[in-house]
Amino acid sequence: MRVAIIGGTGHIGSFLTPRLWSANHTIICVSRGLKEPYQQHPAWKAIKRVEIDRTAAEAAGNFGESIAKLNAEVVIDLTCYRLESAKQLVEALRGRVKHLLHCGTIWVHGPSVEVPTTEAAPRTAFGDYGTRKAAIEAYLLSATIPVTILHPGHLVGPGWAPVNPAGNFNPEIFSLLLQGRQVNLPNIGMETVHHVHADDVAQCFVRAVEQRSSALGESFHVVSPAALTLRGYAERVSAWYGKVAQLQLLPWEEWRQQVTEREAAVTWDHIAHSPNCSIAKARTLLGYDPRYSSLEAVRESLEWLIEHGMVHTS
Ligand SMILES: NC(=O)c1ccc[n+]([C@@H]2O[C@H](COP(=O)([O-])OP(=O)(O)OC[C@H]3O[C@@H](n4cnc5c(N)ncnc54)[C@H](OP(=O)(O)O)[C@@H]3O)[C@@H](O)[C@H]2O)c1
Repeated sequence: MRVAIIGGTGHIGSFLTPRLWSANHTIICVSRGLKEPYQQHPAWKAIKRVEIDRTAAEAAGNFGESIAKLNAEVVIDLTCYRLESAKQLVEALRGRVKHLLHCGTIWVHGPSVEVPTTEAAPRTAFGDYGTRKAAIEAYLLSATIPVTILHPGHLVGPGWAPVNPAGNFNPEIFSLLLQGRQVNLPNIGMETVHHVHADDVAQCFVRAVEQRSSALGESFHVVSPAALTLRGYAERVSAWYGKVAQLQLLPWEEWRQQVTEREAAVTWDHIAHSPNCSIAKARTLLGYDPRYSSLEAVRESLEWLIEHGMVHTS
């Protein structure tokens, strides 16, 4: 297949581009050429790179046409955040591609009713990002174009900090846990986060490309096999380094006073969603078989953070 990947050098793209290239597809990677991939691989020298600034090209009204002119049979869109962006791409690609794959997010779901949440759950997105992604999903599924949507959880991989046991991105939380020092958690620590290794997301995209007939017209969650409670996550991280987690559970209003406004907002976003998503559909229809549990993915990332001096064991 001739595959164009929009945003093929980011968290997901760093794993997806090499996987598709290794599976003998012809790859055209579209980006601004600013970001270095997170993973070294011979694929980066072998694939075609096309530099387009999507924001500027969309404003000029020619982004969709620029992608259509690449003559790809498959387009994977990893950087679509606005309904207008999706519309411009679809209008240009309709009738000219065999398969459009869009990267969504589990934030298309709001508060859960039954868990694990399935793809069939009514969309109750809240917040700007989730609401926009839910609108894009609804549009794409009715847009008379061969489409598949994958909804990843919190991306994890070596090279960046994962969502931590306090539900934000401050790597200091990991240092405190590894050193057996006190960590404050909000409420009773039973809210959840649902990570996924970026390479498992890449695996699922490859399966969706290669099993097009099972994937067409469908949305799939792409997460690890099980979500984590904040408290359980913290306890396991400390245990890896022979420590017992020293957790202090604080009511939300008290907890939020102890952190920056930004950290409080990010934590609130995670705990208000408390995602716990099912992967049964992707397993059954696509054969998705994640290599990493949430904890295995985080551990790999944590080792990278320690090696690069961003988390300290003493
Ligand atoms: N991050 C998460 O935890 C998470 C969770 C769930 C879902 N998602 C979804 O996953 C998708 C991909 O996220 P990601 O975290 O892999 O992205 P990312 O790491 O930020 O990568 C973005 C990619 O797009 C390119 N890019 C950025 N701005 C561009 C522009 N204006 N024009 C052209 N290319 C541009 C970047 O390269 P250049 O900078 O070189 O242009 C890079 O290749 C998104 O749809 C997001 O909603 C993410």
